[in-house]
Amino acid sequence: MTITFDNERQTFHLRTPNTSYILTIVEGQYPAHVYWGSGLRSASWPGGLTLRERASFSPTPDPDKSRLSLDALPQEYPGYGSGDFRNPAYQFTLADGTTVAELVYRDHRIFAGKPKLEGLPSTYTESDDETQTLELTLHDAHSGMLAVLSYTTFRDSDAIARSVRYVNESGQPVRIRRALSASVDFNRDGFELVHLNGAWANERHISRRALVQGQQGIESRRGSSSHQHNPFVALVSPGAGEEQGDAYGFSLVYSGSFAASAEVDQFHTTRVSIGLNPFDFEWQLDPGQSFQAPEAVLVYSNEGLGGMSRTYHRLYRTRLCRGEFRDRTRPVLVNNWEATYFDFNADKIAAIAEAGSRLGIELFVLDDGWFGRRNDDTTSLGDWKVDLNKLPQGLDDLAKRVNAHGLQFGLWFEPEMISPDSDLYRAHPDWCLHVEGRRRTQGRRQLILDLSRQDVCDYIIDTVGGVLASAPIAYVKWDMNRNMTEIGSALLPPERQRETAHRYMLGLYRVLETITSRFPHILFESCSGGGGRFDPGMLHYMPQTWTSDNSDAVCRLKIQYGTSLVYPISSMGAHVSAVPNHQVHRMASLKMRGDVAMSGNFGYELDLTKFTDEEQVEVAAQVAAYKELRELVQFGDLYRLKSPFEGNDTAWMIVSADKSEAFVAYFRVLAQPNAPIEWLRLAGLDPKADYEVDGVEGVFGGDQLMFAGLVIDDLHGDFQSATWRLKRV
Ligand code: DGJ
Repeated sequence: MTITFDNERQTFHLRTPNTSYILTIVEGQYPAHVYWGSGLRSASWPGGLTLRERASFSPTPDPDKSRLSLDALPQEYPGYGSGDFRNPAYQFTLADGTTVAELVYRDHRIFAGKPKLEGLPSTYTESDDETQTLELTLHDAHSGMLAVLSYTTFRDSDAIARSVRYVNESGQPVRIRRALSASVDFNRDGFELVHLNGAWANERHISRRALVQGQQGIESRRGSSSHQHNPFVALVSPGAGEEQGDAYGFSLVYSGSFAASAEVDQFHTTRVSIGLNPFDFEWQLDPGQSFQAPEAVLVYSNEGLGGMSRTYHRLYRTRLCRGEFRDRTRPVLVNNWEATYFDFNADKIAAIAEAGSRLGIELFVLDDGWFGRRNDDTTSLGDWKVDLNKLPQGLDDLAKRVNAHGLQFGLWFEPEMISPDSDLYRAHPDWCLHVEGRRRTQGRRQLILDLSRQDVCDYIIDTVGGVLASAPIAYVKWDMNRNMTEIGSALLPPERQRETAHRYMLGLYRVLETITSRFPHILFESCSGGGGRFDPGMLHYMPQTWTSDNSDAVCRLKIQYGTSLVYPISSMGAHVSAVPNHQVHRMASLKMRGDVAMSGNFGYELDLTKFTDEEQVEVAAQVAAYKELRELVQFGDLYRLKSPFEGNDTAWMIVSADKSEAFVAYFRVLAQPNAPIEWLRLAGLDPKADYEVDGVEGVFGGDQLMFAGLVIDDLHGDFQSATWRLKRV
C-alpha cells in the first residue's frame, strides 16, 4: 500500500496489494492519469504517457507545445472552460460571474493514515499503518480556489479511496456548481458499463451495456440514492465474467442525489466520474471556508466482477461499517409488518413472540403503527409517542413481555418524516422541506422534515433518543418512505436554497452519528421502502439494510444477486414471508423461501402463529440451520456461480476465509421436462484440499468440485432449491 513520488519524473505510484495506480504532473501543472490496473513494479516506462498533436479543435494551453492539449490529456481532476470539452469534475461561479477555472498542481504530501471526512461517512482505518494517503493540492491562481485531492491506499485491500476538499482563498464568495469526487481517464475504449437499476420492490438489477462514443451514465435526482439507481458503476472489459477479466468499480459513499457517468471521446479514451449530482446543486463557499465532497471508493480486479465484489465486501464489512455489530453475527428476527400491518395490539405481538421462541427466533421487531394514532399510513409521523389504545401498558411493558419469551425487542421508526396530520406539523408547519407559496407535494400522505435545520435534527435526536432510552430496545429499523420535492428550506437565504438537499444529508449524518453512538448496544438497520437507500453512506452508521420490500423468493434472487455486486451479505436483510406472497402473489416453496433468505441476515416477515405443525418443524429446522451457518454466511467470501439474469437457475456460494468451509445454494425457478443433468461448478475452494459435502456420499477434491462440478439432484416442481454445506477433511 505504499505511495511513492519520483521527483525527477514527477510521478506518483500508488500501490495496493495487487494493483497500481499511477499519475504524473505534466509541465509542472497538470495532474495526468497514467495507469490503473494490475500491480506494476515500476511507475515509468517508455511511452507511459504519450501525447500527440491534435487538430485545432482541441486547443493547447501553450501555443509552443502543440502536443499538450487539455482535450486529449488523460486528467486526474478535469475542469471546463480552458480546453477540455469532456465531462468536467468541477465548476465554480466566481464573484465576477464567470465559470472558467483551471486547477493546477501546487504541492502534495504523503502520510500514513487516513483523515476523517468532516461531516460525511467514509471508510476508515483502525491504525495508521493500515493506509497511506496522498494529498494533492491544486489551485486556480486567478481566483484563489484550492482543491485538495485525497487518495488513500489500503494495506489489506485493492481499493483506493478518493475525495476532494475545496478551500476558498479568493477573498470573495465562490459558488460551487459541480464538485465530483473522482474522475479517471482510461487510455482506451471498448469497455462495457455495469450498473444497478430498478424500482421500488425491484431494486438493483444488473444492467450491462457496451459503451459508445458520447456520454452514458446514471443519476438520482430524488434526494436519496434511490431504488432506481445505485451510486455505483463498473467498467469491465468485454467478456469479463465472474472470475476473469478487468473490472473497475466506482462506488460513492453518499446517500443523496448522485451522478455517475462514462464518456467515450473522439480519441477512443474513456472518462469515468462519480460524485454529488450537479443537477440542481450549488454551494456558496465564503472566503476562508472549505467544502468537503463525499468519498468515492475505486476498486480494480483482474478476477472479474467476482473479484471486485469480494474486495468491496471485505472493505465495507470491516472498514466502512462500524460499531459493536460490525463483527458480530446478526440475530434471527421476526418482523410483524406483513403479519399484521397496522392491525395489532400487545397480545397479538406477544403471541407472535411466543411462537417465535418455540422456533428459536431471537429478536422481535415491532414495525409501523405503534405511535400517535397511526392506524393507517395517513397520520402521526413525527409524533413519536406510544399509542396507548394499541399498547395500553406502553412500550417498556411490551418489550419486557417479548423479552420474557426469550426474544429481544426491536422497534421501527421513520424519523425523517412528518405527516400533515400530526401534532408536530400543527405546531411546526415550516419544519418540512418546502418552497413558500407552492404546493407541498405529498408521497404516502407525508412530507419530509427539513434536516438542513439544526433545530429539526435536534428534535429527532431528542424524541427518538427518548423512546430508545424508555424501553429495552435492542434493534431499530430506520425507515424513509418517499423522495424529495419542493426542495427548499425556510431558514436558508435565497442564494443558499440549492444547498438544501446536501445540507439535509449532512444533517441526517449528524443525527445518525449522534444516535448510533449514544446507543452503541442497539443494532440499527436502515430501510427506505426496502432498498431505496441501500448505499455505503447509510452502511457507515447502520451495518445492515432491509434489501427490498419485495420478499418473494424468486424476485429476491435478482435483487440479492444484484445487491451483492457491491454490498456484503452481512448488510442484506432477507426474510421469509407468507404465500401467496404479498407483492407478487407467488406460491414459492417454504424451502426455497428459507434458502433465499438464509443467504442474508435471516428472518421472518409473517404471522408465526399461523404455521401448520409441519411448517413449524420445517421453520425450526431452518432457524437452527441458519444459526449453524450464519458466521460463514455473514462473514465469508461470496462467489456467484449462476446469474438469475441469464437463465432459469441461480447459484452462489460462500466460502470461509481459510477455505475450510463453504455453503452452496442452488435455485431453480421453473420445472423443465427432460432437463439436462446440471453439473454446478463451484469456486473459491482450495483445489488441493478434500471436502465432504453433506447429503452426498464420499469425499471430493476441491479441484473436482471446481473444475468438474457437483451434480444437482433432480428437483421436482417450480420454485425449488438445494443447499449444501462443505467441510474440508
Ligand atoms: C416500508 C418498509 O420497507 C416496510 O418494511 C415497512 O416497514 C413499511 N415501510 C412500514 O410503513
